[in-house]
Amino acid sequence: MQRNHPSAVLDPTDPTDLTDPADATDPPSVCPAQLLAASARSAATPAALVGDTPVLWVGQPFTSAGRGFWAKLEGHNPGGIKDRTALYMVAAARERGALPPGARIVESTSGTLGLGLALAGIAYGHPVSVVTDPGLEPQVAGLLRAYGAEVHTVRTPHPEGGWQQARRDRVAELLAAHPDAWCPDQYHNPDNVAAYRPLARELVAQLGRIDTLVVSVGTGGHSAGVGRVLRAFFPTLRVVGVDTCASTIFGQPAGARLMRGLGSSIHPRNVAYDLFDEVHWVAAPEAVWAARALARTRYATGGWSVGAVALVARFLARTSPAEERIAAVFPDGPHRYVSTVFDDDYCRAHQLLGRRPADDPDEIARPDQAVVTRWTRCRTVTDPLSAAPDAGSPDLAGAVR
Ligand SMILES: Cc1ncc(COP(=O)(O)O)c(C=O)c1O
Repeated sequence: MQRNHPSAVLDPTDPTDLTDPADATDPPSVCPAQLLAASARSAATPAALVGDTPVLWVGQPFTSAGRGFWAKLEGHNPGGIKDRTALYMVAAARERGALPPGARIVESTSGTLGLGLALAGIAYGHPVSVVTDPGLEPQVAGLLRAYGAEVHTVRTPHPEGGWQQARRDRVAELLAAHPDAWCPDQYHNPDNVAAYRPLARELVAQLGRIDTLVVSVGTGGHSAGVGRVLRAFFPTLRVVGVDTCASTIFGQPAGARLMRGLGSSIHPRNVAYDLFDEVHWVAAPEAVWAARALARTRYATGGWSVGAVALVARFLARTSPAEERIAAVFPDGPHRYVSTVFDDDYCRAHQLLGRRPADDPDEIARPDQAVVTRWTRCRTVTDPLSAAPDAGSPDLAGAVR
């Protein structure tokens, strides 16, 4: 690992970042001018606070001796990673005339995009309606209302399409009731990919060289946007997708899912299948273990997707050559998961505790080789729709996305 990384990754107020013996492989060299450049910024609007998030080295004891990875801390955005795409999609729709001044924004979301759209609504002067399901954390629903958004919660899953279809049906009703309204449609809107190009450029500026990118996949937006730009910089880049068990995105059958954010019960067209070298499916107890271990050892943590991404990045750091530089995107921070991932009663009720993941994932040769129920790796990635055009996986009524 080189020692001359830009200082934006170091906290100048925290001398332990430079002296922690557990991080002997960290890049501690730093010059005062770089510290000044990284120390503070001013913003005239809340939207201007989006982006330029820090990266943090995650080393021992979360990882094994002498190994580690860089975490891009998107929880440092006002709402989370989706602030980037919310602002971008809204600005593009206004530019195209699809979203007239003052018209309503209506979207189905499991939370993070809702927070971003609330921010975009304030920034551009649009009312926002968010359609969600009972799985949304009450804290997030409360925050969305505080930010001025209307929160519509569907109460029963669609008999075939689950909660996701029920939410989409409610979005259609709201759009019909507000003829001027616009729906970003984050699953299929190409602006949800383009919005993440700056994130990739930030990583290049912060890390210089990247060999492996580890990214969670829900709509496919940030993996496609970041992955494409990084591959252009680094043609041999390895892109590793992280999904949940019982998600259809990479060709597993749909099932009930506890984890939110990553995973899906549909096949979003924003997923850049050609970009991925491998996919890992992670189960909820494994993500909880990693999110909690990260919190204890590195302070910077998050929820389901951060736990899953960190678990996979930790494994890749241990099993790759020491000089391999790994960047992992942490989509948000820990706060909204206080009543789930970090709540002992919730975790006990869902049998999520006391199950330390294996050091290595199971491995299957093709996504349809087996239905996976624990951490599993597959180094063949195909688009389930082009592999078998009529292979729609039945969506279970309990699916959450
Ligand atoms: C917390 C969290 N992690 C990961 C993701 C997946 O990101 P993407 O939709 O860009 O694939 C999302 C998407 O909603 C999210 O909210």
